[in-house]
Amino acid sequence: MSRLVVVSNRVAASKLSRPGSEGGLSVALRAALRQHGGIWFGWSGKVLERDYGQPSVAEVGKTTFATIDLTQRDYDDYYKGFANSTLWPLFHYRLDLAEFSQRTWKGYERVNAHFAHRLQPLLKDSDVIWVHDYHFTLLAEQLRNANCRQKMGFFLHIPWPALPVFTALPWHREIVKALCAYDLIGFQTDEDLECFQDYIRREIGGEVGENGVIRVFGRTLRAGAFPIGVDTETFAKMAEESETSNQVARLKKSLIGRDLIIGVDRLDYSKGLINRVEAFEHLLTAYPDNRGNVVFLQINPPSRADVADYVDIRREMEATAGRVNGAFAEYDWVPIRYLNKSFSRRVLAGFFRSSRIGLVTPLRDGMNLVAKEYVAAQPAKDPGVLVLSRFAGAARELDGALIVNPYDVEGVAERLQEALTMPLKERRERWRSMHRAIAVNDVTAWWADYLETLQHGKRIP
Ligand code: UDP
Ligand code: G6P
Repeated sequence: MSRLVVVSNRVAASKLSRPGSEGGLSVALRAALRQHGGIWFGWSGKVLERDYGQPSVAEVGKTTFATIDLTQRDYDDYYKGFANSTLWPLFHYRLDLAEFSQRTWKGYERVNAHFAHRLQPLLKDSDVIWVHDYHFTLLAEQLRNANCRQKMGFFLHIPWPALPVFTALPWHREIVKALCAYDLIGFQTDEDLECFQDYIRREIGGEVGENGVIRVFGRTLRAGAFPIGVDTETFAKMAEESETSNQVARLKKSLIGRDLIIGVDRLDYSKGLINRVEAFEHLLTAYPDNRGNVVFLQINPPSRADVADYVDIRREMEATAGRVNGAFAEYDWVPIRYLNKSFSRRVLAGFFRSSRIGLVTPLRDGMNLVAKEYVAAQPAKDPGVLVLSRFAGAARELDGALIVNPYDVEGVAERLQEALTMPLKERRERWRSMHRAIAVNDVTAWWADYLETLQHGKRIP
């Protein structure tokens, strides 16, 4: 078994953290690293005035965590700039928010080159390298230029946009050419994969063959859809255990029997937060019996708070939630509880289990793990209902959800009312079909399948 080298912008804390405080993906990648032995390489999260030093290294069992710092200039151009003000909005279909600048593009190239340069001395010839997400589309090309011959895979956690959107990026060709230096490119859904294949065929004139094979730019590689899963069993167990926790007990006590609708998202404009609050407002207007009887808990930990569009969405969200509360609140009931902080996944699991509805309405999302976690957390006997945007990757697998168009505020309100009044039998049937999907394709199956395909050329389904 080859040694595994994982590369991602964020690296899980190298010290063993409290159970339940770590993300499902990071738990899963740690497990993959434990099994194969290897390195997790990425950004330390620190921004320094001066140039990079050598990577900081920490050993935990068979895994080495190696991280490097960013200079202020690189943080501004690469992370805040090209990654989060160009690629993130563009790949989420927000051309109106995407910024295009030669300076940040150069910064992105520079940081990808720096990371390759720092990673290379740590590599062995027999390693398998797995790079994650939009921050490092250029890394394999940089490593190949330095004569690295290892198997290299890339997985994109966010959507791949349709051709007319993607080609608005002045550097679309450079990015795809560099991506083709990987041996396997993984996407979240068939739709993302098809958009990529469409680009290869129509824009470059490449060949898309059987079993995910792509021939283009003089290289042969493969591309496939590998929908990411969650740690279904562990999450269900956490949800059950945390039912008796102090936080969940306090939440339930505060509800005094009212139905709870829950939303949990990083505070990001891709998550459809304003539409969601407006849909809830419409529920209270169109179905006034819900006034005083339903509470909407929206948890939004701040994210990328130094990027202007994130400052705007925060302000807009505060104004919208404040307006709805101002219009409907009574002295003994406040409709929206809007929280700007994060919770451990253990606490979230308990909150999900206590909620009648999980409300997940992104305008565009690669997968949306919260949707799957909400399903995992439900009690089989009395499960809640998932109301899910058709634009989340998860909608492809979770056919038992009430699927909504988040732009259709009135339609979402109708589905919320349907969910609030849904008979137990239907709730159980819907939940069972969703649970089957997330139990089979959990996060361990996801990484095992991806790595098997990368290493041994397994057939892509
Ligand atoms: N999450 C968390 N605490 C919070 C909010 C979110 O641990 O306060 C976790 C959540 O349980 C999920 C992840 O963060 O595992 C968010 O993943 P998702 O795919 O839903 O959205 P992303 O943030 O990756 O866009
Ligand atoms: C999404 C992206 C990840 C990113 C995370 C948090 O899940 O796909 O790559 O790490 O958001 O964003 P941040 O900018 O704080 O790393």
